[in-house]
Amino acid sequence: MRVLAIETSCDETAVAVYDSQRGLLAHQVHSQVALHAAFGGVVPELASRDHVSKLLPLIESTLNETGTPQDELDGVAYTAGPGLIGALLVGAAVARSYAFARGLPALGVHHLEGHLLAPMLEDDPPKYPFVALLVSGGHTLLAQVEGLGRYQIVGSTLDDAAGEAFDKTAKAMGLPYPGGPALAAMAETGRPDRFDFPRPMLDRPGLDFSFSGLKTAVVTTLRQLQQEGAPLDEQTRADVASSFQEAVVETLAAKCMRALKHTGAKTLVVAGGVGANRALRARLLSIGQRHGVTVRYPRLEFCTDNAAMIAYVGCQRLMAGECDELNIRAVARWPIDSLLAP
Ligand code: KG4
Ligand code: ZN
Repeated sequence: MRVLAIETSCDETAVAVYDSQRGLLAHQVHSQVALHAAFGGVVPELASRDHVSKLLPLIESTLNETGTPQDELDGVAYTAGPGLIGALLVGAAVARSYAFARGLPALGVHHLEGHLLAPMLEDDPPKYPFVALLVSGGHTLLAQVEGLGRYQIVGSTLDDAAGEAFDKTAKAMGLPYPGGPALAAMAETGRPDRFDFPRPMLDRPGLDFSFSGLKTAVVTTLRQLQQEGAPLDEQTRADVASSFQEAVVETLAAKCMRALKHTGAKTLVVAGGVGANRALRARLLSIGQRHGVTVRYPRLEFCTDNAAMIAYVGCQRLMAGECDELNIRAVARWPIDSLLAP
């Protein structure tokens, strides 16, 4: 089965073609980062309008890249949620209409299911069951993954997502949007042990996270440094960034280890935009080695939003016989544990 997939849940317009036998044939992403940079965050109305203007040319160029004639497609998958409703509607309407016009089955896919299964796009995919740490701008959760559609959430954030904590802290430090990668870059030259930021909820049992207090701790520290007349030079700022990152990484790593113990799984999969963080990747790999746990990441371009992961999930579910009615599905909120195995 060969599937065309469309992802427009936030600020990336993405298209991919996945073939059940040959794997991923092509994927292209148009990022709206430059469009939203002046506003310091994603402006939903601008995001929708940009999807409208970029999506059709992107479909054409992705199909051209694969050399796939349109009549060799067997199905269409699109991100139906969760995400920005206007942005989702653009992808859903185009995908559904495209499928209708060509008499193809169409399926709305859960964005987070895409992230969870993104490592399946690699040549040597992880084997079920595994524990997945999903850390993105909108979500932070730990899930026990038994198979397609068989997800049990064992931990999640009570407030901010890990990516949101990176973005908000970066903004508080005056770094340009998108803050997460900028803060991580700044942390590279800093000392992770100079400031002792809290490790939220590590002292309590359980697998939940809380990151909102961490940003406040950073802001308080910056204010104190200013009041003490300490120079807020580049090194100090890098030390703050590195100490913040260390607190997030240590918290995530400790909860991953707890989740592995709790579930008995021997494989950890890390997905979502924060999964691109080098310090987090290195820490989890070294802890994994010490505890006999295999740690798997999607390649960097599949950590952040893309349509390849939607194409993979869409293809698996369409092959299992799932197919939407003739309606356009777009849902801003959609709990992942409501998904079913096909
Ligand atoms: O998965 P994603 O592309 O979009 C969502 O579905 O949210 O994740 C984006 C998030 C943003 O919060 C961004 O700041 C964060 O991932 N991020 C990073 C890094 N790269 C992206 N956070 C920390 N370190 C990075 N290297
Ligand atoms: Zn995402």
